[in-house]
Amino acid sequence: MIIKIKKKSDIPSSEITPEDVYINRRKFLGASAGIGAAAFLGCGAADTDSDAADAESQDLEPTSWEDITTYNNFYEFGASDKEAPARRSHTLVTKPWTIKVDGLCAKPADYQLEDFIKPSTIEDRVYRFRCVEAWSMVIPWRGFPLADAIARAEPDPGAKYVAFETLWDPEQMPERRWKPRIGWPYREGLRLDEAMHPLALMVTGLHGRTLPNQNGAPLRLIVPWKYGFKSIKSIVRMTFTEDEPPTTWATQSPAEYGFYSNVNPNVNHPRWSQETERVVDSSRLFNRRIDTLFLNGYADEVAHLYEGMDLRKYF
Ligand code: MTE
Repeated sequence: MIIKIKKKSDIPSSEITPEDVYINRRKFLGASAGIGAAAFLGCGAADTDSDAADAESQDLEPTSWEDITTYNNFYEFGASDKEAPARRSHTLVTKPWTIKVDGLCAKPADYQLEDFIKPSTIEDRVYRFRCVEAWSMVIPWRGFPLADAIARAEPDPGAKYVAFETLWDPEQMPERRWKPRIGWPYREGLRLDEAMHPLALMVTGLHGRTLPNQNGAPLRLIVPWKYGFKSIKSIVRMTFTEDEPPTTWATQSPAEYGFYSNVNPNVNHPRWSQETERVVDSSRLFNRRIDTLFLNGYADEVAHLYEGMDLRKYF
C-alpha cells in the first residue's frame, strides 16, 4: 500500500505533531556536500554515496520535517548546496499571491490564493518522492487534487497539455547566476490526462503544517510517479495549450531530461543509474539504498496513461 489519503475532516488534532517536536529534532545532514557543485551540469548529479545497499524496505515511514525542509532543490534560491533554499528563501513574499489561469479554457482568471484553494477539498496524503538525482523521501503532503483546479477552468476540447510557471522575481530570488543557462521562470508541464489523474496534487502544506518557502510556498505541484523536478514550486501561472509546452530541464539538457520524466529504473540517466535510490534520513549514520520502483511504485494507478508508448523514447 503506497498511498495514504486522509480528508482534513478525518485528521484528529492530536495527530498533528506540535511544532516544537520537530524543532527539537537533531540536525545532522551527512553526505550532501558535493551534490550542489555537480548540479551545474544539469538537474543535479547521481547520489551514489551510500554505505549500505539494501532493497528490502519500501514502507511509508515519513521523512522527518527537518530533512524535508533542509534538503531541497529550489534553484532560484541557490544551487550551491541542498541547505541553501532553507537559508535563503525567507525573502520570498507569499502574501498576497496571485495565480493566473489562461490559455485554452472557458474560464481564464486571476485568482488570489485564498480563492484558488477550497478548504473542503484539502487532504493529507503520504507519497513517495523520488528525485532524479537518485535520492528519495516519503512526504506527508497536504493539498487538493490538481483535477479540481483544472475542472474549474473548463479547458477547451483542443487543450491537450497544461503548463505551469514559477514566480520569477530577481529582487526576491537571489540566484541570478543560473539565468543564462536555465532561462527563468522555472517551467513545467503535464499532458492533460496526467494532470487530471487523482494522484496529482496541488500542495499547500506538509507534515500537517503550512508549506515552508523552501518547499515551494504557497502552492506547488506534486506528481508522485514522476521525478521530483516535475513538481514545480511557487506556482503563479497555469496555462492550457494544444502543444507540448517547453519545460525547464528538457530545454536545458534535452538528452538527459525528457518531458515525461516518469520514474523508471529501466531507463538510466545518461550519467548515472536510476536502478536504486538513497533514502534521505539524517538520523541514521549510514545511508540506506533501496530499489527504485517503476513509476515510483504507482504503476497500478498510472501505468495505463502510458500504454503503447516507448518509454525509452518518451523518457
Ligand atoms: N521548482 C522550482 N521553481 N525551482 C526548482 O529549482 N526544483 C525541482 C522541483 N521544483 C525546482 C522546482 C527539483 S529538481 C526537485 S527534486 C524538487 O522541486 C525538490 O522539492 P523539495 O525541495 O520540496 O524536495
